[in-house]
Amino acid sequence: MQAILKIEGLSKHFQLHDQNKLIPSCANVDMAVYSGALSALVGPTGAGKSSVLKCVYRTYLPSAGRMLFRDAAGHVTDLAQASEYRMLELRQSEIGFVTQFLHCLPRKSALDVVAAPLVARGDILENAQEKARELLRLLNVPERLWAVPPATFSGGEKQRVNLARGLIARPRLLLLDEPTASLDPATTDRVVDLLKVIKAEGVAMLAIFHHPELVRRLADRVVELAPPVAVTDLLENCAS
Ligand SMILES: Nc1ncnc2c1ncn2[C@@H]1O[C@H](COP(=O)(O)OP(=O)(O)O)[C@@H](O)[C@H]1O
Ligand SMILES: [Mg+2]
Repeated sequence: MQAILKIEGLSKHFQLHDQNKLIPSCANVDMAVYSGALSALVGPTGAGKSSVLKCVYRTYLPSAGRMLFRDAAGHVTDLAQASEYRMLELRQSEIGFVTQFLHCLPRKSALDVVAAPLVARGDILENAQEKARELLRLLNVPERLWAVPPATFSGGEKQRVNLARGLIARPRLLLLDEPTASLDPATTDRVVDLLKVIKAEGVAMLAIFHHPELVRRLADRVVELAPPVAVTDLLENCAS
C-alpha cells in the first residue's frame, strides 16, 4: 500500500535569539500515514507531537527532514519545501487540521465558522449551512448557539465547533490535535463513531489523543516520540 504521507527524519527546533536559547522539539521522526487508516502520535508532554502536525500543515517550517505528500492526482510534494501558494492550495482541497484550540474571526456565527471550509471550496451557501447544522446537532452544540460567534463559548463548546469545522469537508488527510480533550464521555463517543465513519470513507488521519483509551479505539498504527532533550545555549550549540 502506498502512503499518502511519508515523514522522514523530521526535526524542529526553535531559536530564541533574545534569550540566546535553542529549544528542541520533535527530532528525527519517521512515520507514514495511509488512506482509510489512523496513525496516532504518542509520547510525553513536550515530545513535539503538536509540532509534527504543525510542520505537516506548515504552520511551522521544519528544521530538517522530508514530508512527502501524495495528492489526489498522484503528484508527490515535499511539504518541507513546498511554496506558500502550494500549501494554501493543499489546505483548501486536501489537508485539514483540527487544532487544539479554535481560532476564528470574532463576528462570524458558529454556523458560518463550521460551513466556511465548504464555502471556500465553492459549495452553495445553503448546502454548506445544511451540512454545518447536521454536524453541530451531531456534536451536541445547543441550537441557541448556532447564530452566535464562538468567541464567548465554553472550552467544550469551542472544541465541538472546531471539530465540526475540521470534519465538514472530508479532506484526504486530516490532522487532529487532541480533538476530544475537553468533551464529555457521551460527545466523545459520538466523535469516535464519526471518526470511524470518516476513516471508512478513506480519509487518512494523523492524530494526537489525550487518552490512551482513544488510541486503542481508533489507531491502526502508533508512533512514539522520545521525551524532549535539554534546552541549550545558541552559542554553545553553534560551537559544537
Ligand atoms: N512556537 C514555539 N516557540 C518556541 N518553542 C516552541 C514553540 N512550539 C513548541 N515549542 C516547544 O517545542 C517543544 C514541543 O512542543 P509541542 O510540539 O507542543 O509538544 P507536545 O505536543 O508533544 O506536548 C516544547 O518544549 C515547546 O515548548
Ligand atoms: Mg501538544
